[in-house]
Order: sequence, then C-alpha cells, then structure tokens
Amino acid sequence: MWGSLQAPDKAPGTYGFTSGTGQAPQNPQNSTEKKMQTMKKKYQIIFATGNRGKIREIKAILAGSSTPGAEIEVLSMKEAGVEADPDENGADFEDNALIKAQAVYDLLRSRPAPEDTVRIVMSDDSGLVIDALGGAPGVHSARYMGYDTDYRLRMEHILDLLQDVPEEKRTARFVAAVGAILPDGSPRVLRDTMEGRIGHSIAGENGFGYDPFFYLPQYGMTSAEISPEEKNRISHRGKALRRMLRELGLLT
Ligand code: IMP
Repeated sequence: MWGSLQAPDKAPGTYGFTSGTGQAPQNPQNSTEKKMQTMKKKYQIIFATGNRGKIREIKAILAGSSTPGAEIEVLSMKEAGVEADPDENGADFEDNALIKAQAVYDLLRSRPAPEDTVRIVMSDDSGLVIDALGGAPGVHSARYMGYDTDYRLRMEHILDLLQDVPEEKRTARFVAAVGAILPDGSPRVLRDTMEGRIGHSIAGENGFGYDPFFYLPQYGMTSAEISPEEKNRISHRGKALRRMLRELGLLT
C-alpha cells in the first residue's frame, strides 16, 4: 500500500465525481448543505490525454464512482488549459503513461491549483496485444499503420494477417496502464487488462479504436456491441482507473 497523499483526511459524506466545472453551489440552501460543503475535500484530476474516445470513457467511469469525503472534478488537459504531446517512447505501457502524466504535470507547475484543491495529474497508456502477432500492435496501437489511418483499414489488415489462425490462438487483450503524478511530484502506476479474442469480422458502433473486432466470448459480442456502461465496468481502463483511485484513497 502506498503512503498517503498530502491530501486532507477523508471525511464522511456522500460525494461523487463530477466532470463539469466542479463548482460548488454558490448559495447553499440550508445549513446542512453548508456544512457538507465545508466537509468536502476538493480534488482535481487532470487527465493527460487528447483522445476524445478515451476522455469520454474516463469521465463516464469516474462519474459512476462514488467517493466518500471527496468532491472530485475531472478535466482533460485541454480543459485545464494545457496541451502536451510528448514522445511516447517508453519501453512499456507503464513508462508511456508516466511520460504523459509527467509532461502535463510539468506544464501545470506555473499554474498552481487553488489552495483548497489537491491536484492529481493522471494518464493512461493503453493498447491492444494480440498473441498470434507476438504482442503487436501493443504500445504502437495508436500509430499502427499510421496515426491517421482509418481503424477499419487497420482491422481489415489484422484480420487478413490472422486469417489462418485458429480460434483458440486468436487470444488478445486490451491493456491499460494508469499513471498518476501526486501533488509532491511522486509517481504511481499500475495496469489492468480486458481479455478477449480477435473475431472474424467487424461489428458494433460503440467504443472506439479496435473495439469492433475485439470479441468477448462471454457476451458473444464485440466490445463495440456491448453498452458503454458494460464496457466501462469490465474494461482494462475502467478496472485500472478504479484501482488507482482506491489506492489513492479516493474510492471505497
Ligand atoms: P494511447 O493514446 O497511446 O494510449 O493509444 C491507445 C490506443 O490503443 C488507442 O488509440 C486505440 O487504438 C487502442 N485502444 C486502447 N484502448 C482501447 C479500447 O478500449 N478500445 C479500442 N481501442 C483501444
């Protein structure tokens, strides 16, 4: 277990994540509300990603979590007023997650968080690992066949590569490493996975990236066919994020 954040102690109450401005109500209706407001500990989580599909999922995951004693605002780096695009040249997902979070943390140094707010910079580095391709596209998932290449073309190409690969050897997983840089600059990182197989066709409109050919045998569907809520419940990103928040004492 990690040491505790410099963050204030946990306080009782029922608070959740917000993904908007996180402003507390200006005129509390009554004394109970006023009291609750003063009990809340404010956290700002800034997510170091420019990927819109990811930030949508991350906000949904965090909005669905409840956190006693903490009012948590989630912002993309853009919403926080910074943009970083560091070279993701780390050896693994963990390295890359921390490279991104560190870059945004450094940019934000000149814009300190409000005094009553604990700011944590987080990022995820994720990708698709296909066993029959020796782990490719792996850490290169975003740039596989070129950053701007349509995902349908990428998936069709991979389906061609796998056309003679039998069912039991089509195993694959999405991996997400979630990194966090705490207010004192210390790093944390962990990973989780979502196991599945590469299907034989492309199906589904939900999710993003490689979801439409990522087959989940337990559902008989791809991760682009299950609902967004279900995907967030079982996904590499959802599990890693919730575990990170738990480790930081921000989720019970
Ligand atoms: P990153 O922004 O470097 O972490 O890129 C991760 C890439 O992996 C994404 O751009 C997608 O191509 C792929 N990826 C990661 N997670 C998912 C997912 O949940 N569904 C589909 N593709 C994903």
